Amino acid sequence: MKIVHSPQVITAWSLRLKREGVTVGFVPTMGALHDGHRALIRAARLRCDALVVSIFVNPTQFGPTEDLAKYPRPLTNDRRLCREEAVDLCFEPSVAAMYPEGFQTTVAVPAIARRWEGAARPHHFAGVATVVTKLFGMVRPDIALFGQKDYQQAALIRRLVQDLNMGVEIIVRPTVREKDGLAMSSRNVYLSPEQRTIAATLYKSLRVGAEVMRKGTTDVQAVRSAMTTVLEQEPAVTVDYLAVCDPLTLDTLSSVVSRTVLLGAVRLGSVRLIDNLVVAAPRTRISQRCG
Ligand code: PAJ
Repeated sequence: MKIVHSPQVITAWSLRLKREGVTVGFVPTMGALHDGHRALIRAARLRCDALVVSIFVNPTQFGPTEDLAKYPRPLTNDRRLCREEAVDLCFEPSVAAMYPEGFQTTVAVPAIARRWEGAARPHHFAGVATVVTKLFGMVRPDIALFGQKDYQQAALIRRLVQDLNMGVEIIVRPTVREKDGLAMSSRNVYLSPEQRTIAATLYKSLRVGAEVMRKGTTDVQAVRSAMTTVLEQEPAVTVDYLAVCDPLTLDTLSSVVSRTVLLGAVRLGSVRLIDNLVVAAPRTRISQRCG
């Protein structure tokens, strides 16, 4: 596996391969790789000839009071995982290489970025949109893979790629979970053992919301209150938001429609957890249409 730090080197490598007809696949990450990243890398491996994983803890997507300094950076393990999954090139740019003196351009996707995670983390999505635009410019991938775990991020990237005609195929893969349903995340290491035992409550509440919808309700308030009831049983959990949304625009829905996404964010002490579930309402299910 090649390890490259320089943006110029990776662009030259990628362009040379593409001239030879090789397809380039790309999985951008911030490292601290776990089985969720591994699943994305495996899915990418099956879909391209040359596979690039980037490891870059992007400072511009962290708020001033967030965990940039303490974000885990187990580089040796990350490289090992990449080698195990037959990654061809691991791109590890420095902050100075990504944001040299004089850097000033940012990419904004205002409507998607304003709500949910964006409301809690005001500059986060401009940081994500900008770094992904830069990484795409450096790596020149044909395809790039993202996790559904960060639903709003994936929606924003789809919009960005379409709006700016980037010509990168975006593939979004399902969330990989721990046995109890907790979505895997590099930040789960911050949970204390007690917090870890109740962290899956967010996913449980989303499942209860989905169940209420599957029973046929179109009443958004009924769905939200079913989800809230689950979370209220854990006093250590504070709800940031629980939302019933349109899966493309992420607008709040006034009544349940054919396809809906349930978005949730909670706090456990200083740890913030996010999760989501896409639900098809009963009337759209093939079994019910045929039955
Ligand atoms: P990071 O949090 O490292 O995540 C990298 C990719 O892995 C993202 O697409 C994320 O959605 C996906 N991922 C994380 N946990 C997952 C899980 N449990 N199951 C499936 N996929 C999962 O997201 C970022 O980095 C950054 O914002 C980045 C896009 C790299 C830009 O800096």
